[in-house]
Amino acid sequence: MPIIKVGVVGFGTIGSRVADAVLRQPDMKLVGVAKVTPDYKAKLALEREINVFVPESSMDRWEELGLKISGTVEDLIDSSDIVIDATPGGVGLKNLELYKKAGRKAILQGGERGEAVEATIVPQVNYHEARGKMVVRVPSCNTTGLVRCIWGLRREVGVERVFAFLVRRSADPADKKGGPLDSMELNPVRPPSHHGEDVRTVLRDLSIFTTAVKTPVTHAHVHMLLIKLSKAIPRRDVVDILAEERRVLLVPESLGMRRTSDVFELSRHLKRPFNNIYENIVWLDSIHCDEGWVYLAQAIHQEAIVVPENVDVIRAMCTDVDAESSMNTTDIRLGIRKGIL
Ligand SMILES: NC(=O)c1ccc[n+]([C@@H]2O[C@H](COP(=O)([O-])OP(=O)(O)OC[C@H]3O[C@@H](n4cnc5c(N)ncnc54)[C@H](OP(=O)(O)O)[C@@H]3O)[C@@H](O)[C@H]2O)c1
Repeated sequence: MPIIKVGVVGFGTIGSRVADAVLRQPDMKLVGVAKVTPDYKAKLALEREINVFVPESSMDRWEELGLKISGTVEDLIDSSDIVIDATPGGVGLKNLELYKKAGRKAILQGGERGEAVEATIVPQVNYHEARGKMVVRVPSCNTTGLVRCIWGLRREVGVERVFAFLVRRSADPADKKGGPLDSMELNPVRPPSHHGEDVRTVLRDLSIFTTAVKTPVTHAHVHMLLIKLSKAIPRRDVVDILAEERRVLLVPESLGMRRTSDVFELSRHLKRPFNNIYENIVWLDSIHCDEGWVYLAQAIHQEAIVVPENVDVIRAMCTDVDAESSMNTTDIRLGIRKGIL
């Protein structure tokens, strides 16, 4: 089996999780990670024998602190078959010049938008579109969560339109900025939010309206969806479709699942790296059907949900492994669940 050499540029919320996931794949080798600031995350990565690369301009600071670096960001790119760019939104597009110059494939994250992106991929839907591309994007956490949930119903029954109301976390737990604090912010005040348009980069002709409110929490987004199916089907059929859907986990209230804090307690008991929840967590008892309309509520762990997608897109761009085989490997290696808890 050929081993794919992966470099991760940006070792923050997403990059550190993607690097960890790459280390768990049988067909991938993590060449190293690139970051700017010499901090405890870098020290712990070095203790795990992860090679760390830094911009040339900051090399001296790392050396002063006795943190052993393996080279520059350009060295990492040169040694990799493919680069996952997980730098803050907007930086990835600037970094494209480096990837292009080295002739390397690149995967960008949800914060990047622009003409340079050849395709936006959610593997369940359009894995094959990443083939032969040099620059591919994995969409944001909210978009990925919406697409996963809508996709099964669209594929099996057909979807006429979707209204989605997003209750967004305002910052990640490690963020030093962000807000609001003790307030909720309409985001935007004048709808729609950008999420619907982003969903259409994958589910192209979907009629979807989205809007959002930002809330002063750091763990998880909650989505409330109203989905108009092409035909009315019984609630049990909707449950069966969602229960069969990859990376969607239905949780019953009878097991104590009511709050996002329950979801995070669940993640601790699952004993995953970084307490990751890779699945859409759909509250089973929230599913309500009425004359072809489906209502449901789901929680999205913004820090983790795009991790399996990044892993699959690496395979889609670098190998001829098919979508199902790739997703099976990823899901097994990351311990991803589906069905009803
Ligand atoms: N956080 C989420 O909830 C979430 C969810 C889905 C998608 N995304 C998307 O994922 C991307 C990354 O977001 P994030 O939240 O992971 O960001 P983050 O936590 O701020 O991490 C960004 C990382 O990039 C590093 N960096 C910055 N400039 C760099 C450069 N020029 N070269 C190498 N490394 C550089 C930073 O280094 P230092 O730490 O060393 O300074 C940091 O490690 C964004 O596009 C975002 O929209 C985020």
